[in-house]
Amino acid sequence: MPGFELIGEEERKEVMDVLDTGVFMRYGFDAARKGHWKARQLEEALQERLNVRYAHVCSSGTAAVSSALAASGVGAGDEVILPPFTFVADPEAVLLAGALPVFVDIDDTLCLDPQAVEQAITPRTKAVLVVHMCGSMARIDELVEVCRRHEVTLIEDNAQALGGTFHGKSLGTFGEAGILSFDYVKTITCGEGGAVITDDPRVYEIVDAFTDHGHDHRGKDRGADEHEHIGANFRISELNAAVGVAQLRKLDRILEIQRNNQRFFIEGLADLPHVRFRAAPDPEGDSATFLTFFLPSEEEAREAARKLAAARVDGCFYWYDNNWHYHRKWDHIKQLRSPGLLAVHKAGWLSGLTDLNMPR
Ligand SMILES: Cc1ncc(COP(=O)(O)O)c(C=O)c1O
Repeated sequence: MPGFELIGEEERKEVMDVLDTGVFMRYGFDAARKGHWKARQLEEALQERLNVRYAHVCSSGTAAVSSALAASGVGAGDEVILPPFTFVADPEAVLLAGALPVFVDIDDTLCLDPQAVEQAITPRTKAVLVVHMCGSMARIDELVEVCRRHEVTLIEDNAQALGGTFHGKSLGTFGEAGILSFDYVKTITCGEGGAVITDDPRVYEIVDAFTDHGHDHRGKDRGADEHEHIGANFRISELNAAVGVAQLRKLDRILEIQRNNQRFFIEGLADLPHVRFRAAPDPEGDSATFLTFFLPSEEEAREAARKLAAARVDGCFYWYDNNWHYHRKWDHIKQLRSPGLLAVHKAGWLSGLTDLNMPR
């Protein structure tokens, strides 16, 4: 994901606006900031680009997941369904919210299988956290339907597929809330940053407060703000937001380059025996930040990744061997290892995570 390859004058200009005022905080200091509100500007630009009613930027994609879970009312005793091919931030955020991650297998989209989700829903299921992995989408229409039928909240982790769409509608805008990440290795970066997007004013209001210790942000005096509920400091700084403002303007160019590159490689690989491409429910909407294909066996996949790397074809991963994104070696999560007791320990749940059976 190439945002960091495209840092230039545009980012420098936005950051200098902030440095010239010295106002690094997104709230307050109205006179000193000389009209620069970078976090707000980034939110407005995201709303427009993604065609969503509300965007709230925060300190990371991980913070955005926690905030979206909070806004969905996920807490102690709840279950959250999520895939075993994602980033550890998702199960971590679920556990820190006091809930239990329930892993459900993926399908050939590399995202949650809607039928497997439906079978895993229990009376304790509060939310389904679908992850649009590696640039492309889940069968999101089917997941929307499953969640609607069972009255379960749908949250979309769109950290890896910014700019992706399903039949023209932005990924991240199908559920009650969507999350984005602008960390250093995302499609666009601001160093560290994230966002929650939603059409629901109630979700927005909770996220807006939750990311800033529950402040209601109604007045001009922070000391006089009311607090509806507790929160955290998940605020983004104006310096980071400034980089994001410049990067978002580059998103369409990035998507165009990625899509051209992806097309080139698909044409090149299409005739190779054994290569099967990942399913995309709407190929037009693939953000094309990755090209993912299957080989018939574990040995062949590992060997292909090794040989491509040896031939200096950079950035080829065999995901099964990746400890960040794939559950195989997430022993700390499966054994619920935490510096202190979690709500799930108190509840005495045997999580069943140690013997996950996720063949796909
Ligand atoms: C799928 C997914 N979700 C969430 C995150 C967390 O984002 P951040 O690094 O901004 O906290 C990432 C980051 O890699 C991710 O890939």
